[in-house]
Parts: sequence; structure tokens; C-alpha cells
Amino acid sequence: MRDIGSRAAAALLLLAVGACDGGKTAATKAPVGATAAAAVTPVPLPVGPNFPVPAATINGWIATNDTAAIQGHAWSLWQAMTAPSGQYLNNQQLPIWDTWADATTVFPQPQAQDASLTTGAAAKPSTDRRFQSPAQFHHTRNARLRALATAVHANFPVAVDVKFDPQAAGFIGAPQPGPGGGTYSYASGASLTKLNAAWPAGTTPQDRGINEFPVQAIETKPVFGLVKASGLTVQPLWQGPSASTNAANPTPDTWTTCVLVQPGATGAVRAATASEISSVAASVQAQSLACKTYLWAPLSTFYAVSLNAAEAQSFNAATGSGSVQAAAGDYSVLLAMHVNTKEIPFWTWQTFWWQPGADTPNNFPGSKQGQPSGLGAPWNNYAACTAYAQTTTSGGATMTVCFNPYLETSPGIPAGVTSNCVSCHGVALIGPNATYPADYKKPIAFFTDPNYFTTLTTHTDFSWAVADAP
Ligand code: HEC
Repeated sequence: MRDIGSRAAAALLLLAVGACDGGKTAATKAPVGATAAAAVTPVPLPVGPNFPVPAATINGWIATNDTAAIQGHAWSLWQAMTAPSGQYLNNQQLPIWDTWADATTVFPQPQAQDASLTTGAAAKPSTDRRFQSPAQFHHTRNARLRALATAVHANFPVAVDVKFDPQAAGFIGAPQPGPGGGTYSYASGASLTKLNAAWPAGTTPQDRGINEFPVQAIETKPVFGLVKASGLTVQPLWQGPSASTNAANPTPDTWTTCVLVQPGATGAVRAATASEISSVAASVQAQSLACKTYLWAPLSTFYAVSLNAAEAQSFNAATGSGSVQAAAGDYSVLLAMHVNTKEIPFWTWQTFWWQPGADTPNNFPGSKQGQPSGLGAPWNNYAACTAYAQTTTSGGATMTVCFNPYLETSPGIPAGVTSNCVSCHGVALIGPNATYPADYKKPIAFFTDPNYFTTLTTHTDFSWAVADAP
């Protein structure tokens, strides 16, 4: 075993002490290298009858519009990903997905790539959690929309930490054969630019694609908010676009129902008391939130982790200088999570968001229906929607709508409340023209629609992360 530094060694020791159920092997199995966090071993999703499901089976559900089976699969992925991993960080057992390598590890910044080439040392990932601003909010070419998105998201800040299961991380990190007999790195923007320029003349837009991810690849985009360690924190609650002051772009700061979240408390979601409401009046005003109806809930309705000083700083760096600032001891709470799996060629797409208590009145864009009875707290406090195809029926004209209220409601995303994951991710490209669909009125022809796919671009197997590699 190579020297992994005393800090990491100490962390491993803690792991060995803290992990008494099945975590016994953690200390011996923790790998050393660029693709794994130093103290946490990424745990793959267990293989079984529910994962990976054969493509023919899932494509059968899509062909017959078997929404119950599709929803059931989304929930079984959620249940498997949120199961205890046997891995610990700061004495808290991690769900399986939270052991996975994040974008800062899978896509090292070019400076770090250069440094590891010259020193021969693999970049050591940090054991601290890291947060980033959702790139999705700022991707649009329209400068006015970009500025609007930045302003809106300052009121109610959210951060993301995109993660890749061991199969997806390994694929992105491995040398990949490509055009011109070359070998390319999908983790490097410079290498992908070379790949895009290397297609032999006459290669059709359709054929200009990166290699496909392995079937067990999973990518996920968890979205985090902040709950202060003391007092009540105001958390808007999604109740559909009609319970927002802006139906076209119902970002969380426009939601009219708000939950006052209390750490260290127990109990069910209930109406907030008058004194609880008055205690948060100043922060509602400072954040320009649209709260009219107030509920109360304990912190335990979320997946929450206590932040150390470095993590709090990372959260603040990702979310800007608004009135909400993280400090050591505050909690990052899981508000939402996008999940895609490569079980079928165009991937499966599902998203989850915090929904304690009852479902939204119209179950839009999804609900908690079909949750497995064995799904425990806090994971049963999340609702879901799915988009396993662009249209609701095979070859039909009705578009699937599935989005996450914390993400695609952003004014930085055109027509987000009518969007589906497949259409937008299918146009993830290297090269010019990499832009979002303007609307979701009809399905996009992958990979022949000349508005997107040209002899100057390379499609990236639905991965915006690869298209945007640093
Ligand atoms: C309007 C375009 C758009 C829509 C719609 C969209 N995404 Fe994304 N998505 C992006 C972009 C851009 C990123 C890049 C990373 C970021 O935002 O931090 C991304 C990142 C992701 C990631 C991380 C891995 C990757 O490919 O970069 C996952 C997983 C993901 N999205 C899933 C979903 C799911 C599930 C849905 C539907 C519920 C969805 N997305 C809807 C644009 C979109």
C-alpha cells in the first residue's frame, strides 16, 4: 500500500472503529488514487433482478406505455441507491450514492491534470464534501437569461455535487479509443476537442459520437440546500406551479408554501404556530421569499449532513453572497436528485425532490405513488417523476414532461416546466451549436436533426458532464 498521508490514514482508522456492521472491510478495501475519495470507498449498486434490468424489458415497458413498471423501476433504483453503504464519513453512515466520486474528482481541473503528469502523483481528492453552482442554470447562450438566473438563485441558494457510480467514473477516467486511431480522455476538454477534430472526412453527424457508457453506469445530480444549526430555517415546499407567484419559472423563492425546519426536533409535518412564523419574518423578507402558508417539519425529514468549516466555505463559494450563508455546524440537506442509468441505450431518467407529508394537489410533475413499502425515512419524504422516452407513447406526439422543481424551473432554462430529461441531454455535444432545446413541442431525432447534429460536432452519449469537461 502506498503512503496515503496521515490525514487519510487517521480517517481510515475512524472508519474501522465506526463501521461495525459490514464496514469491517472498509479499511482494507479503500483504494488509493484519483478516482476515489481518500476515506470512502465508492460502493457499486448491488447487481440483482432489479439492476441492471435487461434493455429489452425496459424497452418493452416503454413500447407498451407501462407507467407502473417504469415508476416501480425508478423507486427500486432510489431504494437501492439510498441503502446504507457500510461506509462512514464524520461518523455518519453514507447511503450508497453518497460514496460515489464527484465531478471534481472524475473531471480534475486542467491544472491538476498537468500537475499529476509532471509530478507523476495522482491528484488526491479531498475527503470534504464539495459544492458547485448548478452549471445547468448558466449554460444558456442568452446573456439576459443567464443574469436573470443568477439574480433569482441568490434568493434561495442551492448547490450541486454531481456524482458518478464506479462504472461511470471508471469509464470517464479510462483511455478511450476514437477517431484517427487515437486514444482520448473523456475527462479532459482539450482531449475531447482533439477528438472532435479527428473524424475522417465524410463521417456522418450520426456516427460522430463518443463510445457508449457501460450498462451499469449511473450518473446523479444531488441538489443541496442549507438548514442553520439553530433556530428555524425557511424551506419553500413545492406545491405545483399554481402555488407559485411565477407559473412560467416557479423557482423555489416564488413558492407560496414554506416549511420551517427545526434541527433536533421530532414529530410529523404540521401547521406552524404564529410565534414560529414571526421568528422567521426577517429572513423571509431578506430572501424575498413568497411564503404565505407556513408548515413546520423536523430536520429528520431530509437526508442531512453537518458541514465542517471547509465544507461550509465550499457551499458559500458555490451559492454566492446572498443573505443565506453557511457556517460550520450547519446542515446541507438533500432537496432533490436527478438520476440516470445506462440500462437502455438512451438511458433511464428519473428525478426525486423533497415532499414530506402529502403529495402536491395535482401530482405534477410527479408524486410519491408507488413507493416501496420498505423505503424508510428520510427517503420516503421524496417524490419522483420519470422520463424513459421523449414521448408518452412509442412514436406518439404527446411529449413526456418530467422535471425537478429545484432545477428546471430556472429562468436560465427555456421552457423548463414543459421539459423532459431525454430531449435536453440528447443534444449534449462537443463543438459549436451545443445549446438547449428552445422548447419541447416535438421529439428530437437523435442523432440526425440538422439543428443540432452536424459535421462539426460530436455527441457525448447524453452526458452534459462530458460535453462540458474542463
Ligand atoms: C435544459 C436542459 C436539461 C434538462 C431538461 C435536464 N438536464 Fe440534466 N443536465 C443538464 C446540464 C447542462 C448538466 C450539466 C451539469 C450541471 O448542471 O451541473 C446536467 C447534468 C445532469 C446530470 C449529471 C451528469 C451529466 O450528464 O452531466 C444528471 C444525472 C442529469 N442531468 C439528469 C437529468 C434528469 C434526470 C433530468 C430530467 C428530470 C434532466 N437531467 C433534465 C441539462 C439538462
